[in-house]
Amino acid sequence: MHVLPYTSEPYDTYTSPASLEEMSAALKSVRAQFEKTYPMVIGGKKIQTEATLVSTNPSAPSEIVGRSASASREHAEAALTAAWAAFEDWKLWKQEDRSRVMLKAAAIMRRRKRELEAWLVFEIGKNFVEASAEVAEMIDFTEYYARQALRHVGGLGHLNAVPGEENESFYIPLGAGLTISPWNFPMALMTGMTVGAIVVGNTVVCKPAEDTVVSLAKVFDIFEEAGLPPGVVNFLPGVGAQVGAYLVEHPRTRFINFTGSLATGKRIHEAAAKIGDDQRWFKRVFLELGGKDAILVDETADLDAAALGVIQSAYGYQGQKCSACSRLIVVDSVYDDLLERVVERTKQLVVAPAEQNPDLGPVCNAAQDGKVREYLDIGRSEGKLLVGGRRIDGEGFFIQPTVFGNIAPEARLAQEEVFGPVVAAIRVKDFTEGMAVVNNTVYGLTGALYSQDRDRIEIARRDFHVGNLYFNRKCTGALAGVQPFGGFNLTGTDTKTGGPDYLLQFMQMKSVAERF
Ligand code: NAI
Ligand code: MG
Repeated sequence: MHVLPYTSEPYDTYTSPASLEEMSAALKSVRAQFEKTYPMVIGGKKIQTEATLVSTNPSAPSEIVGRSASASREHAEAALTAAWAAFEDWKLWKQEDRSRVMLKAAAIMRRRKRELEAWLVFEIGKNFVEASAEVAEMIDFTEYYARQALRHVGGLGHLNAVPGEENESFYIPLGAGLTISPWNFPMALMTGMTVGAIVVGNTVVCKPAEDTVVSLAKVFDIFEEAGLPPGVVNFLPGVGAQVGAYLVEHPRTRFINFTGSLATGKRIHEAAAKIGDDQRWFKRVFLELGGKDAILVDETADLDAAALGVIQSAYGYQGQKCSACSRLIVVDSVYDDLLERVVERTKQLVVAPAEQNPDLGPVCNAAQDGKVREYLDIGRSEGKLLVGGRRIDGEGFFIQPTVFGNIAPEARLAQEEVFGPVVAAIRVKDFTEGMAVVNNTVYGLTGALYSQDRDRIEIARRDFHVGNLYFNRKCTGALAGVQPFGGFNLTGTDTKTGGPDYLLQFMQMKSVAERF
């Protein structure tokens, strides 16, 4: 199979009038499709249910973006059965043919870009650039894994031979598994987790987050249009604690590819470890969970660049990224100067409904709204409010970008994931103390150091214990095929999405020797 080398899909910065006009048309046309009901899809069969999941617009929660069927345990059982049935044939497809379906899906995503972006604006409150970056990331995962899968064709040629024997080792898929996604990057994360598993011959049941059933229904349509056979991906919108938990425990689930919170991840890890009746394997469990990501700034840093990096990392998509900067650790001699610059920039940010393309849109749902407000109270009691700190009155879930100063390294605001536009600033004596504070959390996802000191950069390269480390730039926005993504410690199993070895996790190696 001959394909162009992989390149990152460009995203739109929405600075040109032409792009803005296209987006405005897409928003209008998507709005006209509000309130539709989307079915679940099991083995190619579309199923509606009496019970529905309702997806609302966080900028104006009385607006219903759409509804979906809501799966019961019987549906979950049927979906897993359909996935195993489809596996029998899908595993036999030539790798080229499986990759081709993915490349076609990526082409359709690219064609429908604006529309997909518009759904993200309405369903989860992304501004245009954030929506564009997510759709680009979804395309990247699809294109990248389609190509990476081709690398594994033909097994391992480089093993030693033994006289009188023919030896070969090759990869085979695992079987039928489960992919469960969070709401913050519904399209990119679910697509990445799913394509990574299916492209090498597995089949899956996809359980999207309850808030994002419309976005995922659109993605599922694209797989169907691309010619994916029925049952390879089964779309199972439903309540996580019910159907998700049911399939996690199910003895016929072969693997679980999960992205979400630490609390749910722990539960899944524990439940999946139990061997059920008639279960014939140890489930493989992949977890990508939360973060408490830090930017460390020392006295040699370019403070303007650091302030900009903090703003981008902390407030992009309202801080609702696992990679978001939520701890700003600053060396004492530049602390006041840097914080002043950060506060100045924060004051200029516009918070408004996502369709107006503001700097910050709403947080995603009522639960997020409540949780972030709780942390605003905690911040007031643990530190000094420097800017923001309020929810904006009205129906939408709008929260001001906020910085708390003089937070202690052990404070709750410095330890717990807020998942909102809230920065905890921590003052440290020097770089060495800063490095100790950096690593003082249960997580280990992303981090950044702003410094001009070569020795310190090298110390951080070795000791800053995170899966994704950045120097003198923001700590968000990892690119597939460029910065393989995944964290250490309780952030998860370090799956390194968008990395060259990602697909190996969904395969097992068979080694065969024949004596002549
Ligand atoms: P969540 O853990 O509440 O939900 C995630 C998914 O799990 C949803 O689809 C939900 O329905 C399902 N679920 C809930 N209970 C379940 C159970 N008992 N068994 C099986 N499935 C269950 O997470 P949320 O709020 O949707 O997402 C935010 C979290 O995701 C944050 O902690 C964030 O840091 C993390 N995240 C991590 C990323 C990473 O790559 N490390 C990327 C993006 C988000
Ligand atoms: Mg919603």
